[in-house]
Amino acid sequence: MVRHQRFANGSRSPSVAWCVLILCLASFQLEVHAGCPERCLCSLDQVPSRVACEKRGLREFPDRISDLVQYLDLSGNILQEIPDTLTLFNKLQYLNLARNRLTDLPDKLYGLDQLQKLDLSGNAFTSVSGLTSISHLTSLKILFFGGNPISSLDGLMSQSLQVLDCSHCGIKAFANTTVSKLTQLRTLSLMGNPLRIVDKPVSESLRWLDMSDCQINYLYPDSLLYLPNLEELRLSNNPMLVFSTRFNTLTHNKLKRLDASRCNLDRPGLHGFPQLIIAKLNRNLIRFLPDQIFAKNTELRQISLAANVFDQVNKSAFAGLVKLEILDLSLNSLHNIHWAAFRENMNLRLLNLSHNSLLQFPNFTSSTTFLDLSGNLLDDFTNDVLLTMPKLKTLYLSNNRVDQIPDNLESHSLTTLSLRQNRVIQLTNQTFHLLPALERIDLSGNLLTVAPLPSVFEGNPSLQRILLNENPWRCDCELIYESYEFLLKLKANPLDLVCESPGNVSGFSWKMACNEKDVAFDPKDKTWGMILISLLTMVIVFGSVVSLRHAMKMKRQAHLERQELERAEARERLRLLQRRNRHEEEQLIEQSSEPRINPLELICPPSYEEAVHMPRLAHSMDALDSISMESVPTHILGSVDNLRSKKRRSRRPRKRAISDENLARREERREIRRRRISLERNRSTNDLGDSAQSPLDSTNELASSRSLQQRRPRPRSNSDDDAGSRTRPRPLTPAVRHKKRRSNARNGHSSDDEDSDVHAGILPAKITTNGIVIQTLTKEPRSGYRPTDQESDF
Ligand SMILES: *[C@@H]1O[C@H](CO)[C@@H](O)[C@H](O)[C@H]1NC(C)=O
Ligand SMILES: *[C@@H]1O[C@H](CO)[C@@H](O)[C@H](O)[C@H]1NC(C)=O
Ligand SMILES: *[C@@H]1O[C@H](CO)[C@@H](O)[C@H](O)[C@H]1NC(C)=O
Ligand SMILES: *[C@@H]1O[C@H](CO)[C@@H](O)[C@H](O)[C@H]1NC(C)=O
Ligand SMILES: *[C@@H]1O[C@H](CO)[C@@H](O)[C@H](O)[C@H]1NC(C)=O
Ligand SMILES: *[C@@H]1O[C@H](CO)[C@@H](O)[C@H](O)[C@H]1NC(C)=O
Repeated sequence: MVRHQRFANGSRSPSVAWCVLILCLASFQLEVHAGCPERCLCSLDQVPSRVACEKRGLREFPDRISDLVQYLDLSGNILQEIPDTLTLFNKLQYLNLARNRLTDLPDKLYGLDQLQKLDLSGNAFTSVSGLTSISHLTSLKILFFGGNPISSLDGLMSQSLQVLDCSHCGIKAFANTTVSKLTQLRTLSLMGNPLRIVDKPVSESLRWLDMSDCQINYLYPDSLLYLPNLEELRLSNNPMLVFSTRFNTLTHNKLKRLDASRCNLDRPGLHGFPQLIIAKLNRNLIRFLPDQIFAKNTELRQISLAANVFDQVNKSAFAGLVKLEILDLSLNSLHNIHWAAFRENMNLRLLNLSHNSLLQFPNFTSSTTFLDLSGNLLDDFTNDVLLTMPKLKTLYLSNNRVDQIPDNLESHSLTTLSLRQNRVIQLTNQTFHLLPALERIDLSGNLLTVAPLPSVFEGNPSLQRILLNENPWRCDCELIYESYEFLLKLKANPLDLVCESPGNVSGFSWKMACNEKDVAFDPKDKTWGMILISLLTMVIVFGSVVSLRHAMKMKRQAHLERQELERAEARERLRLLQRRNRHEEEQLIEQSSEPRINPLELICPPSYEEAVHMPRLAHSMDALDSISMESVPTHILGSVDNLRSKKRRSRRPRKRAISDENLARREERREIRRRRISLERNRSTNDLGDSAQSPLDSTNELASSRSLQQRRPRPRSNSDDDAGSRTRPRPLTPAVRHKKRRSNARNGHSSDDEDSDVHAGILPAKITTNGIVIQTLTKEPRSGYRPTDQESDF
């Protein structure tokens, strides 16, 4: 401490100061727990004082263990040696050295006068020579030595040892010298050893001996002769073991408890044990229970003969067993039990006859209170079967084949009846009415269809619980209402009751199937569900209302906007119209308009040019446009909308100017048309739709328009569209415009309505039966106003 203090004074850095503080604390701790080795947990100030160093990977016995230690735990390390200094721990009471690698103890262990319990299990001792010094431990009472590869205990000596666990070692013989020097030994476990020979071991004191899971195959009548005080012997799972023959049997005068289950016994052979109280002989090969076989075991209170192979119990098999309380005959092949077989067992309280082959309800007389007949083959029985068992309280009949519980089944004592997993099809008013003490009934897993009415249980005032699940209920709601409330009181879980019929409620619980008119049902159960459902509904309704309103609002807004737009458009058009009309009037005064080409003039269907000059169907606004604007001076019109009218206008004056040559030209046109018709005839009608690519359109029409163009005078210089194009050096001629349009159409780049005009106006052609080609107008080709079918999309 002083050194640390000095070091701390010399340093200025805070981190060094922290280190010093920690060191100081550590050394302080060390001072308090002086005598606690590293990596160990010590609580030396407690009683008993402990040092726990288990599973620390220790190779050496740790230093600095306080000699005050009372419980020292060094288990689970890799110690190979214990130093002689162990004896210094003279307060030691319990030393745990389990699961190390020890092969011996120090030669001298004097001084450990208080050591009572020593655990050396799971070490590497190979002979008792390594253990000889336990004789120095004058107080040692308990030694755990299991799991050491030791083959014999011969010579082991202790004056104090009372309990020795030597299970799972390598011991092969248990003979007269094995434990003879353990003078106080009371309890010995040799379980799990390869033990074959039990040759008259000697121990005056031994009371409890476990030799189960060994390989003993025979015990002579006198094998236990020198273990005079033995009280409990465990021999289970010695698969070869036999200790009784026809002539003699293992004998012990004081043995009280014998477990010889899982052996090779072919008869009980208990007559050598007059003091026996508990005998476990299950899972042997006992085939007969001869009369009076247990007559000498008058002290017997409990016999287990389960899982043997006998098939009947004769009249006096258990005669004389007045004290017998528990008799387990389950898992045999019993099909017949004499009616008097248990008559003498006046104290019997549990008779287990389950999992046998009983076809009929046994009519034996018995004072048992608990009868287990489950897992047999019982089908029906009479109403008086229980009268021979006047004390019977619990009857298990589960897993049988009972289809009919007899009417008027009578018992004044029966409180619990299990008919689980049978085939019971109905319950009547008479089924339980003579069972006045009945408290619990299990009818689950049967074939009940009709909900039992409260009247069925009228004779059972003490009824507390009934199980009815796994039955194919027919959900007749009228009946169900009646029984439901009653059953609810009997803790029959309503959710367990599932309907099978009628079909529309198959798989529903009673509750769900008959819930609409749920007067009979406990409202508390549903409250939360109802609240939840109504909350959910409210949320959904509210959400949908909000979204509906939103959608309607959006729609209305869009509609308004559209209307506004249309109105603005209409206004604009109207304005233009008025202006045009004014100009038109002015122009009309100037020029006397030449009539358009009258359709009657034509002998053949009109060419494009002609069609253009023919009077239009005046149903659309566009048509109105074109009619009203025939001679509007182009320089006034600037909007895109006017493009078409302008073009038309630029043509019409042209036409009027060349009217002199009309006749000659018409001749020529007719010639062209004739040629076209003949061409058309050669074409298949399939091509009609695909007009944009037909050779007719791309060549003939072009040619014709070109030839027309050649003969026409140059159009006016101001035939151009908008302000921008006016600055161009040379205006486009109509022919060029046509070409451009058509190439646009062919290339699929058309974005202007003008182009669709071209398509519509020229291309789709039909040939009538007369051979006349009729050009069809697929649609009204103007912008500004959209056809009504498009409008309906909004
Ligand atoms: C143990 O048994 C053997 C023979 O089996 C006998 O020679 C020996 O004297 C017996 N020892 C004691 C102590 O009884
Ligand atoms: C049981 O009794 C029958 C006759 O009642 C007899 O034949 C049979 O041998 C008896 N079985 C035993 C094991 O005593
Ligand atoms: C009867 O024996 C069977 C099979 O050994 C066992 O499952 C059942 O629990 C026993 N019955 C009682 C009531 O102990
Ligand atoms: C019991 O049933 C058997 C037939 O299984 C019959 O012979 C015997 O008389 C019956 N005993 C009594 C007491 O009813
Ligand atoms: C059962 O008893 C009730 C009342 O005690 C009665 O109303 C009903 O008719 C009886 N049922 C049968 C099938 O006898
Ligand atoms: C099932 O059908 C019956 C009539 O066949 C009807 O009374 C009952 O209300 C139905 N139940 C359900 C849940 O639909």
